[in-house]
Order: sequence, then structure tokens, then C-alpha cells
Amino acid sequence: MAQQFAQLSDPHLSDLGGVKASQLLSKRLLSYLSWRRKRRFEHRREVLDALAEDIAGAELDQLLVTGDLTHTGLPEEFRQAQQWLQQLGPADRVAVTPGNHDALVRDEPRHTFDLWRDYMAPDPGREAGFPSLRQRGELAFIGLSSALPTPPLMASGRVDAAQLNALAALLDETRGKFRVVYIHHSPVQGVEKWRKALRNADAVAAVLAAHGAELVLHGHGHRARRDQLPGRDGDIPVVAVPSASAMGLYGADMAAYNRYRVERGDKGWQLNVAYRRLRADRQGFEAAGDETLVLPRRHQPGLDSGVAG
Ligand SMILES: [Fe+2]
Ligand SMILES: [Fe+2]
Repeated sequence: MAQQFAQLSDPHLSDLGGVKASQLLSKRLLSYLSWRRKRRFEHRREVLDALAEDIAGAELDQLLVTGDLTHTGLPEEFRQAQQWLQQLGPADRVAVTPGNHDALVRDEPRHTFDLWRDYMAPDPGREAGFPSLRQRGELAFIGLSSALPTPPLMASGRVDAAQLNALAALLDETRGKFRVVYIHHSPVQGVEKWRKALRNADAVAAVLAAHGAELVLHGHGHRARRDQLPGRDGDIPVVAVPSASAMGLYGADMAAYNRYRVERGDKGWQLNVAYRRLRADRQGFEAAGDETLVLPRRHQPGLDSGVAG
């Protein structure tokens, strides 16, 4: 039976209208000034609301939100994002991993990330924190956090060693399911400039190569793109969506998100990707094509793929 999920990213939804520049430390100040100058015109709440309306009718096992919900990671922004998440859906159906903007400054968790705790939580009975595993039927969603405080003007990320070890174990545990790894930064080297890159992309890619996965989803670049990584059970598509709230004013893509449908086929997993984008009149979302990828897997219960290994 087919199962469905969706991904949106980089909503940058918070409104800094009530914030004064004098309240902000240097790292946040730069982000705030960028918001005043450009970002508040590029990232629009009405666009995000139109996306939420478009997605509301879809029957999804999970909606993945891959980071950068805020601009500067202030407690007030975490509160705004918490309210938005609650409107988007219940916490067992919406899964969040943070982005670099959410972690600009290390703030007290009780005023920041604790507010999103339910939306970052793994299945009941599992230890809280990342990587975070949620299993829904044949689907295994594994969230990684690449967000960490960085020096001014840096937007880089890193996945720490403890997460990498736990990721390997979770990928092994869920082998045979359709494993979806979701993370803010791309684990493919060279996708982003040094200033914005995942510092240890090679280490993340090495774990994926050694333990396998069926799909990797990320955001951060505010552009749609597709890459591929090798995996022990077969190649792994790596898919990025643009910002969910973008008007496309400064060269980035206009807002879009993806819906995914997965089912087992004779030759392996069948993954259908349906692209949804903001209409040219910016009044709603529309279909922007779809494609079906067949992912042969060396290890798939119930299937004799005939491939050794
Ligand atoms: Fe972003
Ligand atoms: Fe980002």
C-alpha cells in the first residue's frame, strides 16, 4: 500500500517588527539588519499560509520541516514558530529539525528549543534528541540536527560524532524499511560555498554509504535541487526544496514544497515526487510536475532483487 509524506523548508516565518536593534547582540544584529533590508520582503506569511492551505488536503503520514523557521532565533521567534507548527498539524504528524538561523546564538532551551520539543520528538519510548526516529508503517523518518551556533556571517553546520554513531545504529535497525533522513544542510560536498556548508558532509555521507538509506531531504539553499549519494543498498537520492515562504525577489527560487508517495514495486521501491510551487500570481500553489524514481535495493524483505551483496 502506498504511503505519503511531504517536505517543506526554510519558512523563516517570524516577524521582527517588535524588536529593536539595540536589543540584539552582534551575531543577531547582522541577521536582523538583513531581515530589515531584504528578508521581510522575500519571506511572506501569506505565501506560507497559502502553502499550508495547499497541503491541508493531503493525507500524509508525516510532514517534515527541515529548519530555519526563524530569522535570528530569539525566544519570541520560537514562540511564533510554535504557534505556526500547532496550526500546521499535531506533533506526531509534523517533524521538525532546526536550521542555522534557529541556532544563531546559544539561548536557554526553555525559552527556545523546548517550545518545539514535541515536534522534534522521536516515537514514544525512544530517547529524546537527534537523531530522532519516527516509524510509520513502511516508512522510517530519521531527523539529524546540523544546527549549531556559528561566528558572524557564517551559516555552516555540523553533525556531531554522537549523532553520527546513533545514525548508523538507526539505519541498521530500520534496514528494509524506506528510510528517509532529513537534515537542514546538504550532506553532499560542494553543494554550498564554504561559508554555508555542512562542515563534515563527508562524514555524514560516509555513514549513509556504509549503512544505506532510501532518501535524504534537506533545505538551507533556498533552491530546488537533486543530488545523489552512494549507499550500501543502492544509490540514495538527495532532494532539496526552496524556502516555503519565498517571493523569489532576490534570485532565489519562489516558494515550493514536495509531496512524496512510496510503495514497493517489482524492481524495488517506487518513489513518486510531486512538485508543488507558488503560482505566478502568488495567490496559491499549483502542481509543477512529478516524477517516479525506482530504487532497487539489495536488501528488501519480500523481494528477490537478484542483486548480490
Ligand atoms: Fe534558510
Ligand atoms: Fe539555513
